[in-house]
Amino acid sequence: MSTATGNHDALVARLAAAGCVAADEEADELAAAAAGDAEKLERLVARRVVGEPLAWVTGTVQFLGHRVLVHPGVYVPRWQSEALAARAVALLPEGGLAADLCTGAGAIAVAMARARPGARVVATDIDPAACCCAVANAVAAGCAVESAGGVVVLAGHLADPVPADLRGRFDVVVAVVPYVPSEEIPFLPRDVREFEPLRALDGGPGGVQLLEQAVWAGAGLLRSGGSLLLELGGDQHRAVLPVLQAAGYGPPGVLVDDDGDVRAVEARYR
Ligand SMILES: C[S@@+](CC[C@H](N)C(=O)[O-])C[C@H]1O[C@@H](n2cnc3c(N)ncnc32)[C@H](O)[C@@H]1O
Repeated sequence: MSTATGNHDALVARLAAAGCVAADEEADELAAAAAGDAEKLERLVARRVVGEPLAWVTGTVQFLGHRVLVHPGVYVPRWQSEALAARAVALLPEGGLAADLCTGAGAIAVAMARARPGARVVATDIDPAACCCAVANAVAAGCAVESAGGVVVLAGHLADPVPADLRGRFDVVVAVVPYVPSEEIPFLPRDVREFEPLRALDGGPGGVQLLEQAVWAGAGLLRSGGSLLLELGGDQHRAVLPVLQAAGYGPPGVLVDDDGDVRAVEARYR
C-alpha cells in the first residue's frame, strides 16, 4: 500500500507517538475497520491520534467474547466490568428477570440476555444516545424482544422507568453507575477526560452519590433473595455497606480483582 497509514509499521509508529499504549493491536483494529480502504483508514487514524476512544473510531469493542457496538458519545464498556457481568449471568436463572441500571451501550444487559435467552432484561440509562446504542446492541444480538425474553431499554434515572408491575420481582439488579469521585476527574487519562461523557463518569463527591441511590433503587426492584451487584472502586464499599444494611440487604460480599482491589459489592435483598 502506498499511503503512510497503509504501512503497518508506519501506522504503529504514528499511534505510538500519539501515546497509544497498545499501538500494534490498535493498528490491526483500525486496519480491520477500514477494510482495505486507505482513505478511510487515514480518517480513522486521524480521529484516534487526537485521543478519540478506539471503540468510537472502530465502532465496536469486545466484551465477554462478543463484539459490542459503541456509538460516538457513549461510554465504552471496560474489560474490568466483565467479571461483574459474568457474575450477573451466573445469578440469573433461565426465565428470570434482571435489570441493568445505567446500561450505557448495553453490554451487560446483552450479555445476560445472550446467556439466558428465556430471561427478561430491563436496561435503563438517562442518556438517550446510550439507550439508542443499547437498543442497537440488543437488535444486533437478536435479543431485542420483550415478550418471552430479551432486552427492553428504557430511558430515565436509575430504576424510575421500570414498570410498576415488575417491581419486587427481579432476580438480579446490576449497576455500573458513574462512580469516579468528582475531585478525581481532573486526573483521569486525557482521552477519557476529553472525550467520554462526564455524565457517565462523575459520581459526585467521593463518587458515592449514585452508588447509594442505586442501592435503594435495587431494593425497590428485587424480590426477596434477589441479588444486587454494584461496581465500585477504591474504598467506596465502606460508604456503601451501611446503606445496603439500611435498605434491607443481607450481609454483602465484596468482589476483588487480581490485584486484590475491591471492584464490586454483591448483596441479597432479604
Ligand atoms: C460508567 S457508565 C456504565 C455503562 C455500562 N453499564 C457499562 O458498563 O459499559 C455509566 C452510565 O450511566 C448513565 N447514567 C448517568 N447517570 C444516570 C442516572 N441518573 N440514571 C441512569 N443512568 C445514568 C450514563 O449515561 C452512562 O451510560
